[in-house]
Amino acid sequence: MIETVKNKPIFKVLENSEMLNTFKKDVENGLNASPKTLPSKYFYNKVGDALFVEIMNLPEYYLTRSELDIFQNKTEGLIKELALNKDSYFELIELGAGDGLKTKKLLSALDAQNFDFDYLPIDISKNALHLLEEDLNKVLPNVSVKTQQGDYFEVLLNLKASANPKIILFLGSNIGNMNDAMAAQFIYNLGANLKAGDKLLLGVDLIKSKDIVLPAYNDSKGITAKFNLNLLERINEELGGDFNLDNFKHQPEYNETDGVAESFIVSKKNQTVEIKALEATFQFKAGEKINTEISRKYNDVLIEEIISNTDFTLETKIMDSKNYFADYILSRH
Ligand code: AVJ
Repeated sequence: MIETVKNKPIFKVLENSEMLNTFKKDVENGLNASPKTLPSKYFYNKVGDALFVEIMNLPEYYLTRSELDIFQNKTEGLIKELALNKDSYFELIELGAGDGLKTKKLLSALDAQNFDFDYLPIDISKNALHLLEEDLNKVLPNVSVKTQQGDYFEVLLNLKASANPKIILFLGSNIGNMNDAMAAQFIYNLGANLKAGDKLLLGVDLIKSKDIVLPAYNDSKGITAKFNLNLLERINEELGGDFNLDNFKHQPEYNETDGVAESFIVSKKNQTVEIKALEATFQFKAGEKINTEISRKYNDVLIEEIISNTDFTLETKIMDSKNYFADYILSRH
C-alpha cells in the first residue's frame, strides 16, 4: 500500500518572480544532488511546447495516437462506463487540456446526444487555452466552454466550490511524470475535493516491450533529444548558464520489468559549468548523467496499488486496438 498524507498541500499559486526563484532553487538542488537531477516540468517553455507538439506527431511516439484511437473509436464505451446521465447536468473538467484533440471526439459525441454539461479545460498555458476555446466555439458552437488558466494542482482547491457532479479527465499519461508515491498523493487530493459518484478518467501508457517504448523516447529525427537538451538551453537563457550543448547528449533508458522509462542528459567529457544566477559552478564527469524525466508505464496491479489509499474505486478500463494504452475509469466512493 502506498501511504498518503491527509490534506498535504502539494499545490501552490506561483507569481512570476516566485516562479523564477523556484526554478533557481530546483536547478541548484538538482545539480548538487547525487545522482544529478532536473525536474521535467521545466521542459515546457515556448520552445519546449513547440517541440512537444512535434513529438506528438512523430511516428515513434505512439502514446497520443493510441489514446486518440480510444476517444475516436470507443466513445460510446467511455460514455457508458462514465455512467453519464442525460437528465442531469455535470461538469467535464480536464487537467492539462493542451490542444484538446482527443477530448473533442468525446465532446462532439456528448453534444450530438444532447447531454447537459459544461467543459472546463484547465491548462498552465493561456495561449493554448485561448486557441482551444476559439477552435471549440467554431466546431462545436453548442458546447459551453469555461477555461481556467493555472497549475492544475492549484485548481483542485476550487473544485469543492461547486456542488455539481464532476468528471475529471487526466489524459496522455501525464501522471507518468510522477513517482508512484506522488501519484497516489495527487489522486488522494483529487478525491478529497470531489463527491461520491464523481469520476476520474485516467489515461496511462501500459507496460510493454522495450522495442516499442524506447524509440518513442529516442526518435530518428532527434526531436526528443532537442526537447531534453532544451532544458540546458533554458538554464542558459534564464539563469545565465554556460552549458555547451555539444558537450552533452540525450539518453533514454527503459526497464521493462519495472515499466519505468527515464530520460537522462549525459556529459560527454569532464567539464565545469557556471550558472551566474546561482553564483556557482558545477562539475560534470565524463559519462555522468542528469535524470530529467520519468515516464512511468502501468498495469492493473500498479493502478490498484496507487489508488489503494485514496477514495477511488477502479471501475474498468478501455484500451486502444493495439492494447498499448488504457483509459482507467475510477469512481469516487
Ligand atoms: C507528456 C509526460 C506524457 O512522458 O511520454 C515525451 C512527455 N517526454 N517525450 C511522456 C515526453 C519525452 C510525455 N508526457
